Amino acid sequence: MSRTVVITGASSGIGRATAREFAGRGDRLVLAARSPATLAEVRDECRAAGAAVLGVPMDVGTPGALADLADAAAAEFDGIDAWVHTAAVMAYGRFDEVPSEVFEQVVRTDLLAAAEVARVALGRFRAASAGTLILTGSVLGHITAPYMSGYVAAKWGLQGLTRTLQQEARETPGIRICLINPGSVDTPVYRQAANYLGRTGRPPPPITTPERVARAIVHCADRPRREVSVGRLNLFFRFGFTVLPGVYDVLVGPLMRLAGLSNQPIGPHEGIVFAPNPTGEAVRGGWLPDLPQVIRALGTATAAAGSAVRRRRR
Ligand SMILES: NC(=O)c1ccc[n+]([C@@H]2O[C@H](COP(=O)([O-])OP(=O)(O)OC[C@H]3O[C@@H](n4cnc5c(N)ncnc54)[C@H](OP(=O)(O)O)[C@@H]3O)[C@@H](O)[C@H]2O)c1
Repeated sequence: MSRTVVITGASSGIGRATAREFAGRGDRLVLAARSPATLAEVRDECRAAGAAVLGVPMDVGTPGALADLADAAAAEFDGIDAWVHTAAVMAYGRFDEVPSEVFEQVVRTDLLAAAEVARVALGRFRAASAGTLILTGSVLGHITAPYMSGYVAAKWGLQGLTRTLQQEARETPGIRICLINPGSVDTPVYRQAANYLGRTGRPPPPITTPERVARAIVHCADRPRREVSVGRLNLFFRFGFTVLPGVYDVLVGPLMRLAGLSNQPIGPHEGIVFAPNPTGEAVRGGWLPDLPQVIRALGTATAAAGSAVRRRRR
């Protein structure tokens, strides 16, 4: 049976891949993000896949905007079955070198707006005695890494908030709350981040695809689970962080500088923390090789090598 699904943060990365995944299932979609142009692109992609879609440009931090979004969803599709919240921003830099207003806006967007999503969604679900809320955390809600203090603080907060909501939701059967915790995902978030470090961020390997996280989210909407980890080394990192904290703390800085930051120099900037950058939005971030392109290149190289061998034999 088709559902009405609200996705906040639908214009890029995991949210956009999730919109496509739900659209392919014939679900009705209410898509939200700040950039109207990119949101219209995603709306058209999902409509082309056969889904009924309402696109609502909005900022999750604007007071009242999430309640208005829920009202718009209810007016268009008569209720909300699931709400997937993926909107987030990041800022790189040593804690004391990130401007306090940037740090606070990261926490406002990544934690307080998620709390407001939960408040609005749970209110609607309680009235209907049913609904699934899917929040997006991170492996960084269980471990820490330097130069991402605002993001890490928000994701740890979201972890605690979600567990609390899950405990409260035990009193309301029919309402389910899930937390998706990805590791490194190939999305634009790393280049869209604010930066006060002088070096651009990048996803440390192993990197997974936003489509894989999207499938985990849709699976959660089908069969809700308390927490879903997506990333091959997530459990390994959590084990090291918890069981060997001294060793973890010695290694995490050098590993972050080696694998989590590129050598590309960059001046201080606010990224998308306060305003969107539509030109930087896409499903993928370009950190993983484009497989069809690699196959084509391998084919061309093999053909060239074959003809070189044949020429030498003549
Ligand atoms: N990529 C990873 O490696 C990774 C790993 C672990 C967890 N995650 C989590 O996965 C989720 C999605 O991240 P992503 O990598 O897909 O990021 P992304 O590609 O940068 O997408 C972020 C989305 O959030 C929206 N957004 C940001 N601020 C907003 C605001 N104030 N109001 C409304 N929408 C807003 C953006 O659109 P506008 O800018 O147009 O508003 C965009 O649609 C986040 O919660 C992130 O923390 C990602």
